[in-house]
Amino acid sequence: MTAPKTTAPKKLFVRTYGCQMNVYDSERMTAALAAQGYAATGTPEDADLVLLNTCHIREKAAEKVYSEIGRLKRLKAARPGMAIGVAGCVAQAEGAEMLSRAPAVDFVVGPQAYHRLPALLDRVGRGERPVETEFPEEDKFEHLPADRRARRAPAAFLTVQEGCDKFCAFCVVPYTRGAEVSRPAGRIEAEARDLVARGVVEITLLGQNVNAYRDGEGVTLAALLRRLARIEGLERLRYTTSHPNDMADDLIEAHALEPKLMPYLHLPVQAGSDRVLKAMNRRHTAAGYLRLIERIRAARPDMALSGDFIVGFPGETEADFAETLALVEAVGYAQAYSFAYSSRPGTPAADRRQVAEAEKSDRLRRLQALLARQQAAFQASLVGRTLPVLLEKPGREPGQVAGRSPYLNAVHLEADPALLGRIVPARILAAGPNSLAGALAA
Ligand code: SAH
Ligand code: SF4
Ligand code: F3S
Repeated sequence: MTAPKTTAPKKLFVRTYGCQMNVYDSERMTAALAAQGYAATGTPEDADLVLLNTCHIREKAAEKVYSEIGRLKRLKAARPGMAIGVAGCVAQAEGAEMLSRAPAVDFVVGPQAYHRLPALLDRVGRGERPVETEFPEEDKFEHLPADRRARRAPAAFLTVQEGCDKFCAFCVVPYTRGAEVSRPAGRIEAEARDLVARGVVEITLLGQNVNAYRDGEGVTLAALLRRLARIEGLERLRYTTSHPNDMADDLIEAHALEPKLMPYLHLPVQAGSDRVLKAMNRRHTAAGYLRLIERIRAARPDMALSGDFIVGFPGETEADFAETLALVEAVGYAQAYSFAYSSRPGTPAADRRQVAEAEKSDRLRRLQALLARQQAAFQASLVGRTLPVLLEKPGREPGQVAGRSPYLNAVHLEADPALLGRIVPARILAAGPNSLAGALAA
């Protein structure tokens, strides 16, 4: 089913919240709607269709959506033809409830139903307010047109796996994204080749549990990475997010063998106390995680590690929290994300006895201070070295270009914009808290 194509292009504004998978999905939805005659616009003010691609991971993330809808409601009052759609994980979690809580919303579409967008818009055109939150059997990506923009940024995301079977006690993702599904390796390779043909030199494979990837023919993430590494013109590969329990031997080995695989690994541990990890249903221990890190560093000694942490999980004591700090000290992270536990409706931990807010924010402040010190130390350790930097976009100052090191540090340097999309050697001159300053090396 396709909507009739209008002569004057309609305008689409997409706002994306949450994780990189939402970024990728927004690109795919934009491409799908381009085929329906929608041209992307940078502001909601002149949009005929506003799509909010939402995140449900913490309460604040979900609440943002309702304040945005509140602002859009006023725009819509002035422009009656405008439609508002809610996609993403809040859409999946709340479904039809959204329509009653937010009367300005015209339709709701969950992450596994994006290929149904054209049909949904037809129904909106007929005055309905459809809700599509089924988990259909078909693979949505096979029914979503590829992103065909001629010129692309040199680094791209590519979703290879979606969903989660782990059910950590704090997390909504298994409910909003559904069960783990891996896309066939052949389709992924075709999409990667297409990206490379359009100027992409770095691809980050995405999955909620990307290292649990295993397609119908038994291809593992390591095998997939090695297959993609053979694509000529593709210079860098990354993958995120990994779960410690799925860090298979062949994947660790791939880091030793495959030079295109970048030395940066996001490997969330969440907490350093085994008691808390058990209550979180993480199914790994702190010591097990540290042993894993040791094996990874044996394969790739310069691996930059990143992680996610939750403080103030129900039942976490000060002594438990001290074990998180100790684990962070033991690992030495290049970069990390940390959050105060946010109770999510429908998850097992939501009904447990909560840690006081003041305690949570105090622990978060202390953890973040430690992580910031480690990040600064890592950045400083790169000063004086010459690193290959992928030049991704114009920098803030004229004449400046911004790129990424193999370790994912942002690097700013003076360079001819004609070099965008190239990997150049850069000498690191100085380190700031969040980026490096460099100069082209001869
Ligand atoms: N699949 C990934 C990450 C998913 S969500 C993994 O397993 O690690 C990203 C991060 O958000 C999580 O790693 C966790 O640190 C954080 N998070 C998830 N649920 C949360 C909650 N209820 N409160 C606070 N942080 C949460
Ligand atoms: Fe959430 Fe845990 Fe699954 Fe990660 S592994 S998405 S934290 S349930
Ligand atoms: Fe948020 Fe859904 Fe991603 S809850 S973090 S948008 S998987």
